[in-house]
Amino acid sequence: MAMALATLFLVFLAFTTVVNSCPPSDRAALLSFRASLTEPYLGILNTWTGSECCRNWYGVSCDPTNGRVADITLRGESEDPIFEKAGRSGFMTGSISPSLCNLDRLHTLVVADWKGISSEIPACITSLPHLRILDLIGNKLTGPIPAGIGQLSRLTVLNLADNQLSGSIPPSIVNLGSLMHLDLSNNQLSGEIPTDIGKLSMMSRALLSRNQLTGSVPSSFTRINRLADLDLSMNRISGSIPPQLGSMPVLSTLNLDSNQISGEIPAGLLGNGGLNIVNLSRNSIEGRMPDVFCSKSYFSVLDLSYNNLNGWIPKTISNARYVGHLDLSHNHLCGSVPLGVPFDHLEASSFAANDCKP
Ligand SMILES: *[C@@H]1O[C@H](CO)[C@@H](O)[C@H](O)[C@H]1NC(C)=O
Repeated sequence: MAMALATLFLVFLAFTTVVNSCPPSDRAALLSFRASLTEPYLGILNTWTGSECCRNWYGVSCDPTNGRVADITLRGESEDPIFEKAGRSGFMTGSISPSLCNLDRLHTLVVADWKGISSEIPACITSLPHLRILDLIGNKLTGPIPAGIGQLSRLTVLNLADNQLSGSIPPSIVNLGSLMHLDLSNNQLSGEIPTDIGKLSMMSRALLSRNQLTGSVPSSFTRINRLADLDLSMNRISGSIPPQLGSMPVLSTLNLDSNQISGEIPAGLLGNGGLNIVNLSRNSIEGRMPDVFCSKSYFSVLDLSYNNLNGWIPKTISNARYVGHLDLSHNHLCGSVPLGVPFDHLEASSFAANDCKP
């Protein structure tokens, strides 16, 4: 009995030692990652000292089952008291070192909102098989999105927004079978959106605004049943709006504004009761406004301004349950501000600059 207890105790000891230790190779990778960064204001990287990287190293945590470094979470905008004490948000310069790629048990890599980190994204990052979250938003990263990104089969979040990434969206991206959240907004990405983007069947948010993307809206987006938020605004996208967007089960936000989209508004789109933010402003959309509004129509935003719509503002629009922000200005529409409760708060500017072409 005593023997068994002693053994148990030893096993326990060994286990806790594993939990608290930091494998020397992980520690070396972290230190080399730190060495290529400069964080002058908060001193958070000064906590990265000593041998126990799993304890008290700011933003680092380990997997308790194997003692390996599993998460690096460094956010430059944070509620953490360190930021409050310093009275400022974070700032870092330097680069993201490829030494990170030695952390082959990494699940989470968040290096977000440091504003000044200016390297390329190390291509070897695509060989981290356990990576689930890659969030590098709000830096000054340049160069391409690594071509092999599609190898990250467990990735659920890919957020590279607000950087200076260029090149095209790698075709391999459609292989990210677990991806739920894609945000590449506000970069300098060019080329076309992969036509088979619809293979990303788990995706609920696809945010690609403020780039230089060309080509048309891939109709395969409409196969993604979980897609709730599609934002392709402020690009150079042309062609017409895929009609099937109107029959997507959970799509609630559709921003296609400031592109070169032509053709007509598919009737099903505005008749889809689930869509409640629609911005098609500043395109070359023509034809009539579909007469499909009903008591299920509930729009927080319906902005169709700066297009070539003509004909009468549909009467059914007064059937809508709610229209928060309606902008039909700068078209060739006929008619006037609809009457009734849903429209009482709207200003005349919502209808300004329409030279009626029936
Ligand atoms: C719709 O998009 C236009 C052009 O990109 C923008 O100016 C406008 O503010 C947007 N409308 C709303 C209500 O957000």
